[in-house]
Order: sequence, then C-alpha cells, then structure tokens
Amino acid sequence: MRMIYKFGGSGFAGFRAEQFYKSISICAVIPKTKKISTGVTKIESGYVINKNELLRALSNKFGKKIIGADFGERILDNGSLGDVRLVTGNAETESGNKLPYSIVLKIQKKWERNFDPGSWRKEYDLYNTPLGSYFNKELRWPSCYEKSISEDETRIWMEYAEGVTGLDMTPEMYERAAYELGRFQGKLYERRPEFLPEFSNLSGINFMKEYYLRYRGWSEVYDFIRSGDCGIPRRLCEMLIDFDERSEEIFSRIEKLPVVLCQRDFWVANIICGEDTIF
Ligand SMILES: Nc1ncnc2c1ncn2[C@@H]1O[C@H](COP(=O)(O)OP(=O)(O)OP(=O)(O)O)[C@@H](O)[C@H]1O
Ligand SMILES: [Mg+2]
Repeated sequence: MRMIYKFGGSGFAGFRAEQFYKSISICAVIPKTKKISTGVTKIESGYVINKNELLRALSNKFGKKIIGADFGERILDNGSLGDVRLVTGNAETESGNKLPYSIVLKIQKKWERNFDPGSWRKEYDLYNTPLGSYFNKELRWPSCYEKSISEDETRIWMEYAEGVTGLDMTPEMYERAAYELGRFQGKLYERRPEFLPEFSNLSGINFMKEYYLRYRGWSEVYDFIRSGDCGIPRRLCEMLIDFDERSEEIFSRIEKLPVVLCQRDFWVANIICGEDTIF
C-alpha cells in the first residue's frame, strides 16, 4: 500500500503530544472545469492563474522545458482554509510532445491564529527547509514544483497525490498512517536535524496547553457543554468535562513525553492513502 501524508499549512508545532477531536466532514470534489490555453487567466473565484507560473511548475514536474499547456480545473473542496485546485491538461515540450498532467495549486490567504502568527504561511516556509529529505517512500509530502509568496497569500504548485482520503479510508489505512507518522517522528527525534530548532515558524511547545486554557476561559464554550440542552450527545459532553477535570494530570503526563515535530492537523481530510505511499 502506498500511503501519503499531506502536510497542511496551518499545523506544525514543536509539541510533546497531542490529540485532536475534530468533527469529520464528508470529502467531496466539486467539478468545475474551464478550458483555457494562453495568457494570464482570471478564474471564477477571482484568483489569477499565471501561465508562466504553470509552465515553470510543469517544467519542474517533468524535468524538461515545457513551452505550452492547456488546462482545466476543479476545486478540491474538502479543505478548511486554502483554495485548492486540481489542474489537469496537456503540457507541450520543445520538441512538440504532448504530456498529460495533473497538478495541484493551493492558494492560502493570510490569516491570524492566536499564539501562532505565521500559521498561514507555514506550508510555504516548510517547503523551503530540508524537511522533505527526511521522508521516505512510505510517508512523504507532495513534491513542490513552484511556489511564491506575497504580502497576503502563498501559492504552491504541487504534485497531485492520488489515493483514498477522508471517510473512505479503511481502519487499516488509519493504522498505517499513524504507524508511519510515529516512525517519521522517531527518525526526526533520533537525528535532531539542525534546521528544526532554528526554524522560527513552528508553534511553541506550549501551544496546545495555551489553546486549551484559552478554551477553558471562554465561557461561551465552557458553559455550553455543561448546559443540559446543548445538542451535543451527553456522553461526549461528559468525556469533555472529564478531560477538563483531569487536565492537570493529563498535561503533566504529556509533558513527560519527548518533544517531537507534530503536524497538528493530522486527521482524515489531510491524509491521502496512495498505492504504496501516504501523503
Ligand atoms: N497535493 C494534493 N493532491 C491531492 N489532493 C490534494 C492535494 N492537496 C490537497 N488536496 C485535497 O484538497 C483538500 C484541501 O487541501 P488542504 O488540506 O491542503 O487545504 P486546507 O484544508 O485548506 O489547508 P490545511 O489542511 O493546510 O489547513 C485536501 O483535503 C485534499 O483532499
Ligand atoms: Mg486540510
């Protein structure tokens, strides 16, 4: 089985350990195709696909000069923050060969997250580090072919990771993804790459605790799960309340764990299980 681990832009922290309880959304792909052949093109959302950017990305992808390309696109719509598009078409080489391609363009607008100001550009920044060389064929991120950043957005052209994602994944795939992530974290822990401590864009080790304490102080949420008619299944509320009551003990156990690199948004919509790689 190929499993591929998709590293999202909003996550990544130097964390001791963490668990995320997220609502699970159904993954859907909305087809939205438009044929365009030349020049700079305005697409429906108002973003501009720059033809030179596309040609550079395709030249990097194929390892040879691409002089022309047509493309269609569709939105990959199970993301949370970015505008992510699958772009497909035929690329033309200098010798006139036509090469079919699929490539992903992810546009991330600037946004602010509490305690984590560089969050929105983290995926872009990480592609500038040697982190990619620590992956193996069992677990890796999609190759980046072209990227740019401006004041208020990042644009990343990357490999299209084909495979099973979201709720279509089997328990065996979840298990494999967790196993490979653990191996990857163990490898980084053992090798302690020099660039990691110097990389200023990781969230702090205490991010999770600060985030949690902020929630604790936010009565709208804190009181909500304690109100009898909040609409969330009672059993779930009880579990959350129980975590609150044992939070000190839970954090003190977490704080004894080794510090490793965490993706921080490791959940089904950010994992793609390919034939023998996890993205
Ligand atoms: N390289 C890729 N290949 C195939 N599908 C992708 C790729 N990148 C993203 N997708 C699909 O698009 C969806 C949204 O992408 P992504 O998760 O990167 O965006 P996001 O949820 O907005 O940002 P993030 O997860 O970084 O906060 C993913 O759930 C995945 O299904
Ligand atoms: Mg995502």
